[in-house]
Amino acid sequence: MTQRPRRLRKNPIIREMVAETRLAKDMFIYPYFVVEGTGVVHPIDAMPGINHFSVDQLIKDIEKGLKHGINKVLLFGVGEEKTQDASSSFSNNSVVVKAVKALKDKFGDSLYVITDVCVCAYTTHGHCGILHDDYVHNDESVEVLAKMALAHAQAGADMVAPSDMMDGRISAMRNLMDKNGYENTAIMSYSIKYASAYYGPFREAADSAPQKGDRKSYQMDFRNGNESMTEGLLDEVEGADVLMVKPALAYMDVIFNLRQNTLLPIACYNVSGEYSMVKAAAAKGWIDEQKIVMENMYAFARAGANLIITYHTKDILEKGWI
Ligand code: PBG
Ligand code: ZN
Repeated sequence: MTQRPRRLRKNPIIREMVAETRLAKDMFIYPYFVVEGTGVVHPIDAMPGINHFSVDQLIKDIEKGLKHGINKVLLFGVGEEKTQDASSSFSNNSVVVKAVKALKDKFGDSLYVITDVCVCAYTTHGHCGILHDDYVHNDESVEVLAKMALAHAQAGADMVAPSDMMDGRISAMRNLMDKNGYENTAIMSYSIKYASAYYGPFREAADSAPQKGDRKSYQMDFRNGNESMTEGLLDEVEGADVLMVKPALAYMDVIFNLRQNTLLPIACYNVSGEYSMVKAAAAKGWIDEQKIVMENMYAFARAGANLIITYHTKDILEKGWI
């Protein structure tokens, strides 16, 4: 035998030495759901360990997290006024805007603040754009989304993350932010976002389920792989700084394929349903939570993800899993 691959697996030292994939604390982004009020820390049933926070409590939680290296957060606003035209989404007084200002005030550059940009939590119908005759109107939605991104940039967000899947929204946001002097606000695009049942628990958390119909006329069909590269490369051309694949676990091929086709950093979003499945099985004692979580994280990195957005971030960093 000339090749004995087991030689390189002989003991922990050699295994560590030849490990192809490394994870770093810097790769993790932690999502937060922000609500109005004070003193609110309200658990989200379908996502064990995840809460709704009012801004004052959010600050306290982030203060704790920062000690463990959780220094990148992704904010979702919940519970705003819902209208047909999503006008509360680009208000300069939205809960996200207030949260961004408070966080930047308190933590400055030691915290990197990313905001989700989408109107589904701000519309009566729960769609990610402006609805006309049961169809989400692309260009009208893009105008609103760009205004929302600008409002977040003005509040001090370091990065905006559009999750709507309208065509042309990255260039619209880039242009509007640049025109207003926010050329240094970065864009992480949810470039390749599939219409997925894995978002189930999130829709409870964000109160953003469509009242009628589904999101298939804007989010991608999970049968399509080639099309995902069209989406990714369009966003690159339009000026996105980071491209994202979402969900992550069932879409490793897409992460891998994107890695071969772009030089930009790639983020993957380990979404609510993926998180809750692990939590539920772990609570039953059917799986080893730490081992399963870390196997998933290494798999994302092996597939080509540079950044990982995950609700497991707190466990991973605070419990010293890496
Ligand atoms: C809203 C949005 C969703 C998620 C992030 N932003 C849900 C959806 O598109 O229905 C999903 C996040 C998760 O499931 O963790 N556009
Ligand atoms: Zn949406």
